[in-house]
Amino acid sequence: MAAKLLPIIIDCDPGHDDAMALVVAARHADLVGITTVSGNAPLDATTRNAIIMRDLLGLACPVHAGANRPLTRPAQHATYVHGKSGMDGGNLPEPSGPAASQDAVGFIIETCRAQEGIWLVPIGPMTNIALALRSAPDLAHRIAGISLMGGGRFGNRTAAAEFNLWCDPEAADVVFSYGGPLIMSGLDLTHQFQATPERIAMVRALSGGLAPMLADLFEFFSGTYRVRHRKIGGAPVHDPCAVMALTHPELFTRRLAHVQIETYGRLTAGMAIFDDRDLKEVSDPNCDVLTGIDADAAWQVLVESIAHFSH
Ligand code: RIB
Ligand code: CA
Repeated sequence: MAAKLLPIIIDCDPGHDDAMALVVAARHADLVGITTVSGNAPLDATTRNAIIMRDLLGLACPVHAGANRPLTRPAQHATYVHGKSGMDGGNLPEPSGPAASQDAVGFIIETCRAQEGIWLVPIGPMTNIALALRSAPDLAHRIAGISLMGGGRFGNRTAAAEFNLWCDPEAADVVFSYGGPLIMSGLDLTHQFQATPERIAMVRALSGGLAPMLADLFEFFSGTYRVRHRKIGGAPVHDPCAVMALTHPELFTRRLAHVQIETYGRLTAGMAIFDDRDLKEVSDPNCDVLTGIDADAAWQVLVESIAHFSH
């Protein structure tokens, strides 16, 4: 008998790699809902892109728009990576309609109270998740856990901080201290999973449906990385890692660690601080940190998921 699909809510800022996370989730999880947040692009763009991807994947789940800026800081975007639309490079259709609501936080709270055991999968700035946990502390024991893309041993938006945590360090701090199961796909993991030309060719070789458009998106995404980096094989495909951590855990190695988020530093705001000291005083681990990925096998999961929607 087929294993029961895990129920998840993806909170995202599409975003090329967010779009790929939605493809994998649509294929391998029970995608209960999609919520959107300002991040790679402004909220109206990330919401539009999420609705377009929901439509293209033939999903019935709702898209609810959320925070249009971080908890305390001004909104920041990554158009230098994703383009003005947030998903430049793809010949995208028009969305089928507006978001189901502008209340992503209310949707997360109501849904997780009505159905216990849902995984929250934030793959953008974690503003919506923090607001939900603050408004409804009971969610901490009603959800199955949080599998996030963010942080890592090094930064990308600054030397110290990864973009999702850098945008809203205060929200990330709420998430990392919520006390329940937490899986972290940080940059030291996701940079092992790059959209190289050979891998993009595997998508391009698929016929019809979503494949050509997703191959175009990969080309654009990897192009902006290659322009900005001295030596990189292709764009790290960050966000699907947070989904596959749940749907394909066998593809990853991991370690437990105590991780805190810096919220004050001029140079370090948003930095993920790993406390690996061998001291009894160190707090117990709060995070399952993914350290390695079987990148070729994970890419096969992604390609098969795209193929499933490309007949
Ligand atoms: O730093 C990478 C993260 O920031 C990814 O989630 C990407 O989509 C952007 O949101
Ligand atoms: Ca993202």
